[in-house]
Amino acid sequence: MNFQLSEEHEMIRKMVREFAEKEVAPTAAERDEEERFDREIFNKMAELGLTGIPWPEEYGGIGSDYLAYVIAVEELSKVCASTGVTLSAHISLASWPIYKFGTEEQKQKYLRALATGEKLGAYGLSEPGAGSDVASMKTRAVREGDYYVLNGSKVWITNGGEAEIYVVFAVTDPEKRHKGISAFIVEKGTPGFSIGKKEKKLGIRSSPTTELIFEDCRIPKENLLGQEGEGFKIAMMTLDGGRNGIAAQAVGIAQGALDAAVEYAKQRVQFGKPIAEQQGVAFKLADMATAIEAARLLTYQAAWLESNGLPYGKASAMAKLFAGDTAMKVTVDAVQIFGGNGYTKDYPVERFMRDAKITQIYEGTQEIQRLVISRMLTR
Ligand code: CAA
Ligand code: FAD
Repeated sequence: MNFQLSEEHEMIRKMVREFAEKEVAPTAAERDEEERFDREIFNKMAELGLTGIPWPEEYGGIGSDYLAYVIAVEELSKVCASTGVTLSAHISLASWPIYKFGTEEQKQKYLRALATGEKLGAYGLSEPGAGSDVASMKTRAVREGDYYVLNGSKVWITNGGEAEIYVVFAVTDPEKRHKGISAFIVEKGTPGFSIGKKEKKLGIRSSPTTELIFEDCRIPKENLLGQEGEGFKIAMMTLDGGRNGIAAQAVGIAQGALDAAVEYAKQRVQFGKPIAEQQGVAFKLADMATAIEAARLLTYQAAWLESNGLPYGKASAMAKLFAGDTAMKVTVDAVQIFGGNGYTKDYPVERFMRDAKITQIYEGTQEIQRLVISRMLTR
């Protein structure tokens, strides 16, 4: 067993860390405040090859692996969780299903554009009446000649409005429940496809979250992803890996909060010495660091399993569950260590705390992770 990262992984970490500190961190608080998505940051990630980390060069990627990808999401999230999830949704949720289930033509047309970062991707699964219970979705796709006609709406879509390529799930046969769901690739600008309400959120505020509306939206039959009726399986398999991207986001948020708390605790003097020397504070820092390390190991392990073609669904759900809860606890503790200052926007820890909460909700709530893990243990 070797816990040392390869030279390639260390190099990617160094490159992303430098990029994050130089290009992402300086505007993170301001973008959060203004709820502003910055496409220029995404374009710069594309220049570095980050938008296609795990995909082969023949599809415009840089031919690395899922471990390199989670390291990148972690490093970005350490300074800006919104930027972390932009990349995570782009790679895990939009690009992955095209890579796995797309025809050669779809890969050349859509995966290449996503991998090179020419286009941004999004994933439309959730609906107003179907969040945790995916199979109860209502968006309909009816075959009419060479087209599928989509009607319905999706909610909570990360990168919504900004993305050019959407992987969208709809019911093609309502009688068959989860076996009657299909996946489609929908391009921005398709007549009948519009962007609805943009959410005002507690955290990840510079990541746009919107509604998608389909009104007699005609999708060419060539844009069916996989086979008709295969959509639920595609959605679930996509989430198997996607959840580890969120685990990486959570690890990054937690590490960012710990780093800030350590620095603060070394500087802040009360009762004649730095608060870091008060055992109550020092032990908190020790517990924070230990939990983050455990979360990171689960996350890297799941990525390693996926990169090596081994089953990774359970590992990924465990990583997301543990890392999400760790991010929440660590960021609350970081605010506590900052005292009154932690409660203000003069320091980044309140943003980390607001951002951490989403890692317990999206890509399946923590309760759903427990469902997924326990079913794998008992079925
Ligand atoms: N891989 C392959 N097949 C799978 C699978 C997987 N991971 N999980 C389930 N299936 C198959 C089952 O084997 C079963 O197949 P058969 O019918 O052939 O037996 C079928 O799918 C139905 O499975 P279940 O009975 O387990 O389905 P369910 O209706 O009980 O739902 C669930 C299962 C795990 C709760 C699922 O609905 C789920 O994951 N819900 C959470 C939704 C979610 O995570 N949404 C995230 C949206 S994206 C997001 O949030 C974006 C972001 O972060 C940026
Ligand atoms: P519900 O399913 O209504 O759940 C409400 C509560 O009930 C939760 O605590 C839940 O855990 C609990 N619960 C439900 N069922 C069970 C059960 N069986 N056992 C125990 N507890 C249960 N979706 C996309 O498709 N694409 C995206 O890009 C995307 N991005 C998102 C970005 C943000 C900022 C947010 C907030 C959401 C995003 N989502 C996205 C949707 C997200 O995946 C859902 O919000 C999430 O899956 C939960 O669904 P829900 O909100 O409908 O909650």
